[in-house]
Amino acid sequence: MELVEANGAKIPAVGLGTWDLRGRACARTVEQALRLGYRHIDTSEMYDNEREIGEALRASGVPRSEVFITTKIWPSHLAPRELERATKESIVRMRLTDVDLLLIHWPNAQIPLSETIPALCKMKSVGFAKNIGVSNFTVALIEEAVKHATEPLVTNQIEWHPFLDQSKVRAACARYGISVTAYSPIARGKAGNDKVLAVIGARYKKSAAQVCLRYLLQEGAVVIPRTSKLERLSENIDVFDFALSAAEIEEIRKLANPRGRLVTMGSAPEWD
Ligand SMILES: NC(=O)c1ccc[n+]([C@@H]2O[C@H](COP(=O)([O-])OP(=O)(O)OC[C@H]3O[C@@H](n4cnc5c(N)ncnc54)[C@H](OP(=O)(O)O)[C@@H]3O)[C@@H](O)[C@H]2O)c1
Repeated sequence: MELVEANGAKIPAVGLGTWDLRGRACARTVEQALRLGYRHIDTSEMYDNEREIGEALRASGVPRSEVFITTKIWPSHLAPRELERATKESIVRMRLTDVDLLLIHWPNAQIPLSETIPALCKMKSVGFAKNIGVSNFTVALIEEAVKHATEPLVTNQIEWHPFLDQSKVRAACARYGISVTAYSPIARGKAGNDKVLAVIGARYKKSAAQVCLRYLLQEGAVVIPRTSKLERLSENIDVFDFALSAAEIEEIRKLANPRGRLVTMGSAPEWD
């Protein structure tokens, strides 16, 4: 598995997204993914599946040290004491001793980053998280987070796929050596039906979804596609044996449009 390096972290370039996967179906999918070669699993205290992910990890037989586990803290838990409690609870639910990456899931305008970021850094310094980062952070929030951080932030997990231009926030991340993790990387399935991506894919005997993931990887992203279908687990990781040309990358960039954003929520920041 290729790695994306950022501020000392080595993050497997393709991970499995697990939002909306629960119970036995989640455990089965995660175990199968690990057997197929996935080495990065993305979860959150909000996904209600951390227990199953820990079980799947143990059932897969893949050593803990080989798997990169990310979890995220929900915005209502960003006051320092709450953040520490939520982090410990996530680790206990997975029956682990630490996570590889701990993220703030969404910013919370009611709780200052001057409190949250030092608390997040503490989770790294005391050993509950090997790396820390943020999610759904804008340029302004990244600038502010970096000011308060005593440990390096290694990723900003944001919605990113061909239909959404994220160049501003990507540039801000690059300034600080922060990687970008693309969530909803196949635009919640929409990229799988896109004609431009399908035409490019036919040249390489790849699907539109594979072209979409390859595009994001060549743009430097970590990608975390989700699927509930076992056959698509292999498809979504089989993206390392072809390369898009500069002209194809340009063509895909043109798919971005002002209505491309799919994911938001009430307390979302003002997007760049
Ligand atoms: N930080 C955040 O705020 C945040 C927000 C959203 C998501 N995330 C993370 O990012 C992960 C991925 O994002 P997402 O779940 O929103 O969307 P996604 O991965 O872009 O898309 C998932 C959808 O695409 C379909 N799909 C998967 N592989 C496919 C393929 N090869 N061809 C065609 N369709 C395919 C899946 O259907 P089937 O199941 O039928 O295959 C599912 O409906 C999440 O699971 C979560 O871990 C984070």
